Amino acid sequence: MDNFSPAESKTPESPIDYFPQVTTLSVPSLYLAPMKTPKRLLPLIEDGLIDEVLHPLMSGKEATVYVVRCGQEIRCAKVYKDAAQRSFKQAVQYREGRKGRNSRRQRAIEKGSKFGRGQQEAEWHNAEVDALYKLSDAGVRVPEPFGCFDGVLLMELITDQNGEAAPRLNDVTVPADLAVEDHATVMEYVKLMLCAGLVHGDLSEFNVLVNEDGPIIIDLPQAVDAAGNNHAKSMLTRDVNNMTQYYGQFAPELLNSRYADEMWSLYEQGELLPSTVLSGEFQSIDKEADVDSVMSQIKEAYKEKLEREARMREED
Ligand SMILES: Nc1ncnc2c1ncn2[C@@H]1O[C@H](COP(=O)(O)OP(=O)(O)O)[C@@H](O)[C@H]1O
Ligand SMILES: [Mg+2]
Repeated sequence: MDNFSPAESKTPESPIDYFPQVTTLSVPSLYLAPMKTPKRLLPLIEDGLIDEVLHPLMSGKEATVYVVRCGQEIRCAKVYKDAAQRSFKQAVQYREGRKGRNSRRQRAIEKGSKFGRGQQEAEWHNAEVDALYKLSDAGVRVPEPFGCFDGVLLMELITDQNGEAAPRLNDVTVPADLAVEDHATVMEYVKLMLCAGLVHGDLSEFNVLVNEDGPIIIDLPQAVDAAGNNHAKSMLTRDVNNMTQYYGQFAPELLNSRYADEMWSLYEQGELLPSTVLSGEFQSIDKEADVDSVMSQIKEAYKEKLEREARMREED
């Protein structure tokens, strides 16, 4: 139905228990041998933003994430792949409505010049860090951002209670009562995002981490402008449906909820507020056409016409 398919494929991996939490990291934390610093991280080391690259965490279609040390802090560094290696998230549907339209930059992007491609890359890199700052201000639980430098996003490493990188929802199974609670939390985050003018655009069990404090939303370079993008409603609906289907595996009653319709309808009417309490219910209001009143207006107009014609005949 929609032509923007999610970046990650949904091949099921064997889920593991939410409790005890075990991660399915591709590189175990025992991997402590010093690694050669990846080329893209060298400028950050030279600038003193990173002291040491500890190990790669995950390499996806869009980015490679490394665990790094910055002074006493362990953080993560997301290195975006070049445009040519990336897949769907650059699709025009996502960029529509982003700021910069009509500017010299936007014209260059549209022309696809070398300068334009460079600008587009920079916009792409900045979109995620901007969204992280905006959402953390709005009360959405996201990794704390520390800036984006030369196409590398530095952010908080989300960990579980053992200090390991937190698993994705796709890596865990969730007890039914917790599924209901966490689903409500994610719906709350989607609502706060919409109030802040953003739709995630790629929300799924692959882009939500979980630890003992609940879910954390990640991976936002494609976040779309809710007011300026014609696909915002369909993307919001897909985001909400993905999350409802995920939690609905563990708590099937969630599958009847209608959060996307409810949120969008309030948003469109300018009535969605961070404090709005959502019910998950939605009644589409199809106002029945008031046929009687339309008919009497037509009759009235016809009567006036006849009277006018009669007056004109009398005057002749
Ligand atoms: N802040 C973070 N803390 C812990 N793990 C993270 C963090 N950010 C990303 N990851 C891990 O790296 C993976 C890839 O990051 P993501 O932002 O989703 O990029 P991609 O666009 O490649 O999917 C995630 O699925 C997650 O496992
Ligand atoms: Mg991802």
